[in-house]
Amino acid sequence: MKVAILGGTGDQGLGLAMRFAMNEANEVIIGSRKEEKAIEAAKEAMERLSTVQSKDTKNISINAMTNLDAAKEADVVLLSLPFEYTISTLKDLKDALKGKIVVSLMVPLASAFGDKPTRVITCPQGSVAEMVQAYLPESTVVSGFHNVCHKCLCDLENPINCDVLIAGDDKEANKTVVELANTINGVNGIDCGKLEISRYIEQITPLLVQLNIKYKAKGTGLRITGLEGKL
Ligand SMILES: NC(=O)c1ccc[n+]([C@@H]2O[C@H](COP(=O)([O-])OP(=O)(O)OC[C@H]3O[C@@H](n4cnc5c(N)ncnc54)[C@H](OP(=O)(O)O)[C@@H]3O)[C@@H](O)[C@H]2O)c1
Repeated sequence: MKVAILGGTGDQGLGLAMRFAMNEANEVIIGSRKEEKAIEAAKEAMERLSTVQSKDTKNISINAMTNLDAAKEADVVLLSLPFEYTISTLKDLKDALKGKIVVSLMVPLASAFGDKPTRVITCPQGSVAEMVQAYLPESTVVSGFHNVCHKCLCDLENPINCDVLIAGDDKEANKTVVELANTINGVNGIDCGKLEISRYIEQITPLLVQLNIKYKAKGTGLRITGLEGKL
């Protein structure tokens, strides 16, 4: 799968880029507002991947482009942006994203406006993913990857022990994003249904942040039980 991560120079985006790149099924592009910054991030990702003992990483490559070129190039485009800058970023990308699967992983943490990271702001559309879908009516928006933390993603020697909850209105697009999630070692992608379910998925992250703080944990995650043999 040809996957681009816009804002892929940040903690979460870089972690996802490295994890996707570890699976031969994926072709990964890091996007940035500045091409040079994307190139630096891809170089860093490649260096970190080259130190992984548990896997042969010789044939891995990660491309680097501006957000616009990355959006044009990929089939599946992940938005890994501070949520408060999502719409301003999408303004110039609307055409490039037409007909594509766009994955929203932004969490509307209140810390963006100086409040606690254990609180969220409510978007008028109900969730960030629904806000993105309303802004990009000609793209297929899928919500996912909110509940996996960058520290676990960047701990490349170990599998990630968590489920990735996915929601969207197009069943085929959800299936594609579940497949993408499943390319990460240890991750189990779960299609949770319609895009509006993202309202609850996005709100799980502040709970995980609270648990990280309370228990001084590196990165808490989530496992759904009772679905064994049904996915
Ligand atoms: N960090 C986590 O553990 C985690 C976990 C779950 C979900 N998330 C979600 O994932 C998203 C990304 O998280 P992050 O921690 O990687 O964020 P981040 O490091 O703060 O930002 C990601 C990238 O966004 C771009 N960016 C920054 N300011 C911008 C602006 N004004 N306009 C346009 N682009 C801008 C930057 O890329 P360029 O400068 O290269 O353009 C930056 O590297 C967030 O929405 C977060 O809620 C994060």
